[in-house]
Amino acid sequence: APSDPDLVERARAAKAKLGDKVFVLGHHYQRDEVIEFADVTGDSFKLARDAAARPDAEYIVFCGVHFMAESADILTGDDQQVVLPDLAAGCSMADMATAEQVAECWDQLTEAGVAEQVVPVSYMNSSADIKAFTGKHGGTICTSSNAKRALDWAFEQGEKVLFLPDQHLGRNTAVRDLGMSLDDCVVYNPHKPNGGLTVEQLRAAKMILWRGHCSVHGRFSLESVNDVRARIPDVNVLVHPECKHEVVAAADQVGSTEYIIKALEAAPRGSKWAIGTELNLVRRLANRFAAEDKEIVFLDKTVCFCSTMNRIDLPHLVWALESLAAGKVVNRIEVDKETESFAKLALERMLALP
Ligand code: 13P
Ligand code: SF4
Repeated sequence: APSDPDLVERARAAKAKLGDKVFVLGHHYQRDEVIEFADVTGDSFKLARDAAARPDAEYIVFCGVHFMAESADILTGDDQQVVLPDLAAGCSMADMATAEQVAECWDQLTEAGVAEQVVPVSYMNSSADIKAFTGKHGGTICTSSNAKRALDWAFEQGEKVLFLPDQHLGRNTAVRDLGMSLDDCVVYNPHKPNGGLTVEQLRAAKMILWRGHCSVHGRFSLESVNDVRARIPDVNVLVHPECKHEVVAAADQVGSTEYIIKALEAAPRGSKWAIGTELNLVRRLANRFAAEDKEIVFLDKTVCFCSTMNRIDLPHLVWALESLAAGKVVNRIEVDKETESFAKLALERMLALP
């Protein structure tokens, strides 16, 4: 549905009043009505890098989810304030690894005598606490666009990786990009005693994968890939690496949201694509590229928005911008200093990856 013209006007007016004081970032999964007001859009990596691009901006309005706003706070100046237009915009995957659970896991690795060989690699989709744990134990953050480089780096530092919290990105990168076998990976289940793993399994494993996943990308199945290939001859299947291993293994290409956009920009006229990622992005791309005669369909017919990304809508954005324009900071995301210093170490290791 088209946006309410009154709200569009109010967003425009508030943004104009704020001028250079405000910098609005928008993740590719955001609604069209929100993307329209973003000064910069990107995947998680690009937004983490770009968050610090405007040190003069007093306010950073982050249209995305909570862990992204936290990362922006960590990477920007102390005098810059990060605002998340709806505090309920979390991420179910990030919630699957809590600081207590990860500390317990580390104790177990220590008892098994393997902790010294383990380098933690945490997906950007994790809380600031998990990023701080990662920094404290000599590890790095990664996103879906640099997971291979992060794992290459980690295996130069140690013999094993504890990959948090997305088991699929960890497994897909280890197997597809590093040539490991599925047997090199074990899954640590925080809801089972000892993670459901024996000391022998921990000693033998190269990749210890945390049992987390994305509820959106988890919906795509091998069957969705087979169905779309049967329905659309010559279709190119392009999926996000948060999808299950069997889906990624059956796809033609795999990449982050930014990668997906670039691949479609470079695609020849007349080509056909089935995309396995969040629906706001797929719909926007289908509309954008229809004019270039590129057919873009959603990999699965069941509607699949990320419900938390979708919480940021035009009314919330207008409220945040109008509050800031009136001198009132709402929904500020502020990571405490101690957590920030260790989390920053881990994020800076990622930003320095070759
Ligand atoms: P990217 O934009 O880095 O591909 O990440 C996707 C995602 O799920 C963010 O929550
Ligand atoms: Fe989290 Fe998945 Fe939504 Fe990304 S798409 S914010 S990983 S639930």
